[in-house]
Amino acid sequence: MQNPWLEIPLEDLEGHMSLPAVDQTRLVADGLKEALRTHRPGSVAVVGCAGGKGLENIDPRVTRRVVAIDINPSYVAAVRERFGGTLPMLETYVADVQATELPIEPVELVYAALVLEFVDVAQAFDRLAAICAPGGVLVTVTQRPSAAIAAITPSPFASMQSLASLFRFVSRDTLSDAAARTSLILVSENEVASSSGKRFAVCTFRQPGD
Ligand SMILES: C[S@@+](CC[C@H](N)C(=O)[O-])C[C@H]1O[C@@H](n2cnc3c(N)ncnc32)[C@H](O)[C@@H]1O
Repeated sequence: MQNPWLEIPLEDLEGHMSLPAVDQTRLVADGLKEALRTHRPGSVAVVGCAGGKGLENIDPRVTRRVVAIDINPSYVAAVRERFGGTLPMLETYVADVQATELPIEPVELVYAALVLEFVDVAQAFDRLAAICAPGGVLVTVTQRPSAAIAAITPSPFASMQSLASLFRFVSRDTLSDAAARTSLILVSENEVASSSGKRFAVCTFRQPGD
């Protein structure tokens, strides 16, 4: 079966994420902005980049290398079109983060927001750890389970509901177990909430080294 993400137009994804009832665009972009401010990485990889929301916060004088990865080729093409001019060191890759050894040089910051819910977390962590440089960090954003709120918020963008069968909440134990398979060490965990009431875990893992 083809991955449902390949069937979702970028306009539907971005429209859905920006709905007041979802309100996750700002949250994800703010998470990247905060990670960039805290870690001031010389290189960053955004995994599950979609159309690149948040990349506008990159200061190319500080972060001289930017890698954007997504399974959907049309999303990756949009990132290249939107940011190829302002981020001259932009590298884009179409890749399935759980299946493919990512062909990129490791980076100092890996940012994976709202993508682990759609993949085999253990396999994805192996890949993410491999692209996190010694002394670098992986920041993940995952949706906290809630009995009261639908995992995929009902919306006018009907295509988004095809994700419901793929979506799995990522528990804290799943994250810890996946990290334990790698050299990554959990160093902080915070919670943020969207205006819709959904809660998200923001976890930072450090790669031992320099
Ligand atoms: C919910 S969206 C989040 C997009 C973006 N991180 C944000 O929060 O605005 C999930 C993104 O992960 C991508 N994705 C899903 N499964 C993937 C996989 N196996 N490998 C790479 N990207 C994947 C989707 O195509 C989509 O762009």
